[in-house]
Amino acid sequence: MAHFTKATSVKDWLNQRLAIEKVEKVMASEYWIPKNINFLWAMGLILMITFVLLLVSGIFLLMYYQPNVDTAFYSVNYTIMRDVDFGWLWRHVHGVAASVVFLIIYIHMFTGIYYGSYKKGREMIWLSGMLLFITFSAEAFSGYMLPWGQMSYWAGMVITNLFSGGSLHADFLVEWIRGDYVPAQAFLSRFFMLHVLLLPLAILGLIGLHFAALRIPHVNNQDGEEIDFDAESKKYLAGDKVGSKVMRFGNDFLSKDMMVVGIYLIFFFYLVFYHYGFAMDPVNFDPADGLKTPAHIYPEWYFLWSYEILRPFSTDIGLMAFGFAQVIFVLLPWLDRSPNTVPASRRGLFAIWFWAMLLDMIVLTAMGKLPPSGIFSTIGLVAALTFIGLWILLPIITMFEKKV
Ligand code: HEM
Repeated sequence: MAHFTKATSVKDWLNQRLAIEKVEKVMASEYWIPKNINFLWAMGLILMITFVLLLVSGIFLLMYYQPNVDTAFYSVNYTIMRDVDFGWLWRHVHGVAASVVFLIIYIHMFTGIYYGSYKKGREMIWLSGMLLFITFSAEAFSGYMLPWGQMSYWAGMVITNLFSGGSLHADFLVEWIRGDYVPAQAFLSRFFMLHVLLLPLAILGLIGLHFAALRIPHVNNQDGEEIDFDAESKKYLAGDKVGSKVMRFGNDFLSKDMMVVGIYLIFFFYLVFYHYGFAMDPVNFDPADGLKTPAHIYPEWYFLWSYEILRPFSTDIGLMAFGFAQVIFVLLPWLDRSPNTVPASRRGLFAIWFWAMLLDMIVLTAMGKLPPSGIFSTIGLVAALTFIGLWILLPIITMFEKKV
């Protein structure tokens, strides 16, 4: 056994048993962050905080929610919203956080794309990020089923129908996923299990992987500068804090991050108290009814762009286009052939590609919410074709990019 001495303080007692000083160094005071990064690099921490808000509010909701097709709707809309003290507050925190988390995920993703933070050595950060995106999408979808309102039921019906594979008629797969011919008790029970247990566990594991993937390459910076973290941290520790290009994560960088987090939380709670309605669909305030199809079935805003890629085509082509849209972002580190890890503004054609992609996804999102008829369906079709075309062009335009 190791040699233990009489502790001089609680910290010393803990240090002898858990090496807390070493852990603190590795995680905070000697975890080096470049100085030349802007507020967009706070999005990771904001995502972490929003995930904690989702976990805590979800635990409170779980105390009263009933995963049963006969009582689920009432447990949410009456018990939680009216009977339980502050139940409405937890529900609004949970609903708003579920929506806002996607806004931040998209900002975080597009920041990574703009600065090329998925390239050379950072592929694992990107891959784990994309796995988080997919798991968060599944988490949001399964949560949407739980109030067992009209949109829960019909969105569940439409999305699970996609697994029949169009002309493949893989109806057995749809029935297997639902545990029934239509969404019913087995469906609700399994989506409840996924939402409160399996997917949150997967997200926790993936966040661990995402953070581990950041350790060796470190975070990128806004100038596309290749920083020698060993040399710069030595400079910092030797006392040249001004000359060094890096700073400590804790508490120096964290204090800057907290400023952005503060502004975010004001915005977040403003939404929770004054504009929570945007995160809830009015149609979902009617209980699920398998005999009454709503006039328009559409997903939450964060899935609209991929929904619109599915809609303008015939069933089979639409499904293929949809499948393409789901996986293509994962392949970005390999489709971008350029040797440059610099901001898009210095990458010629890639800058046009970046802004065209962002704009196209905004157009797809807007069209996804509108009924697919007349001019809207034409715009939707053009935007979906543009999306596919941009991805085909990416390897070609980046292959010819000169080293800057
Ligand atoms: C939802 C859970 C997520 C959490 C908690 C999270 C957290 C973080 C944190 C703390 C950082 C370091 C600081 C920063 O750059 O903001 C980071 C970096 C990064 N994340 Fe995420 N992230 C998440 C999802 C994603 C997604 C969906 C992607 C996209 C694929 C992604 C891609 C990246 C990339 C490329 C970096 C490196 C940025 C750089 O080197 O400058 N992350 N993430």
